[in-house]
Amino acid sequence: MDDQTFLLLYGVLAGVLFASFRKAVYDRKVANVPIVGFSGFIASCWDGLRFIHQAPELIQRGYELYPEGIFRVARLFRWEYVVCGPKLIKDVAGAPEHVVSFAEGAEENVQMKFTMGREIVENHYHMDLVRTTLTRNLHKCFPDVRDEIICAFDDVLELEGSEWKSYPVLPTMMTIVARVSNRLFVGLPLCRDKAYLANNVAYAVDVIRSANKITLLPPFLRPQNDFISWMLNIVDEDQKAVLPLTLRILSVNMVLFTQALFDLTTYPEYLLPMREEAERVVAEEGWSKAALNSMVKIDSFLRESQRINTSGLLEMTRKVIAKEGFRFSDGTVLPYGSYVAVAARPTHYDESKYENATKFDGFRFAQERTEHQANHESNDVFKRQMISTAVDHLSFGTGKHACPGRFFAATELKAMMAHLVLNYDVKPEVEGIRPADIVFGQNFFPNPTGRVRFRKRQ
Ligand code: HEM
Repeated sequence: MDDQTFLLLYGVLAGVLFASFRKAVYDRKVANVPIVGFSGFIASCWDGLRFIHQAPELIQRGYELYPEGIFRVARLFRWEYVVCGPKLIKDVAGAPEHVVSFAEGAEENVQMKFTMGREIVENHYHMDLVRTTLTRNLHKCFPDVRDEIICAFDDVLELEGSEWKSYPVLPTMMTIVARVSNRLFVGLPLCRDKAYLANNVAYAVDVIRSANKITLLPPFLRPQNDFISWMLNIVDEDQKAVLPLTLRILSVNMVLFTQALFDLTTYPEYLLPMREEAERVVAEEGWSKAALNSMVKIDSFLRESQRINTSGLLEMTRKVIAKEGFRFSDGTVLPYGSYVAVAARPTHYDESKYENATKFDGFRFAQERTEHQANHESNDVFKRQMISTAVDHLSFGTGKHACPGRFFAATELKAMMAHLVLNYDVKPEVEGIRPADIVFGQNFFPNPTGRVRFRKRQ
């Protein structure tokens, strides 16, 4: 959808706003949950609009008022119930699907039917594929992943001698992640086909943009995206089933890697220790998926980057679908039809959970693992890895719907980071300046125009 059409459709929104908001007013009578922001009818409509650009402030205010409770803020067409604190987050994480639905929550959040195609919403084959086949085969597929990382960095960066070259990080990393992920799913030669990759990348950007815009439209005005149909036309029958999955991987992994690269150039002191670690591990164990487990500093750096740059202000969105509503362990009952999510980003920035929580401390988790090991707290050693989920680290969610793709994501991204620090020098485009995130509603995106300089390692 182009911007003009979007503006036109958005005009219609004003007409339906009043009627739609009635439902929210009705909900307010049912749910005994404090409101953060205005409670009057017109004023709360204003809050719904404010959410688009000031959600972080609204949610942070609620978190500070109710750090172990539930509050709600007005969205354009509904209330957002926000859950804080480990006890209530566990309630959401463990709630049965027929009471509190993950699928309905994801549909509202990512507008999946419109942005990713019905396939990924309705076909549970993908979930099984990620949980079983993909994760189990990571060891076996690792040589392919590694081969594609080497070729993709070479081809995309095109570096010679000792020259420094500047690159727009997001599109550059998107192309590399697209190639590496597609090597697994559609294989050679399609994973290197320029037109196919360009559409992958355009699609990943479009999913994010469209999902944001679509949530601002009333349901009957929501359009269908056509990137997926284009790609479905050019891939083989057996590749069709995994395509939506590949595209999903692309949009999440490239965001994480772009943020990690901005962090690496903002805090250059982490490059050498990670390079030394990768060199030592590769010398001792060679290149394998198992060797990545020994790269504790790289793992910690990526986990910290995820903590600080969590793309979701809120995560684990669910819809209450049981007629009798959903009762939390503190007795709060959310009515049928409510949308609930957990305050992920405020949790990650909570001083009571992380020392110097607002500071980027790339090796904080490596340090904790070393301390736990020294104290023989063997189980805790694993709790601070990139793949570990926790009520205070919510980037992959936690509980029964915790991201099953995180094992793949961690393998791909750790292998990419190890390759990068071993083979390249990097520095920021402008010394001391980290390109600012773009914030839209509840989402934080890495700056799409931010640049970084690369040269071959000297
Ligand atoms: C850095 C990368 C990634 C991040 C940050 C991420 C994050 C998430 C989050 C927050 C959820 C929802 C958890 C919840 O609501 O409880 C989720 C679910 C999911 N993710 Fe990921 N993800 C990533 C990579 C991947 C990859 C690479 C795949 C596929 C290979 C994948 C497949 C899935 C699937 C299938 C679900 C739904 C799980 C279910 O229905 O129970 N994700 N992910």
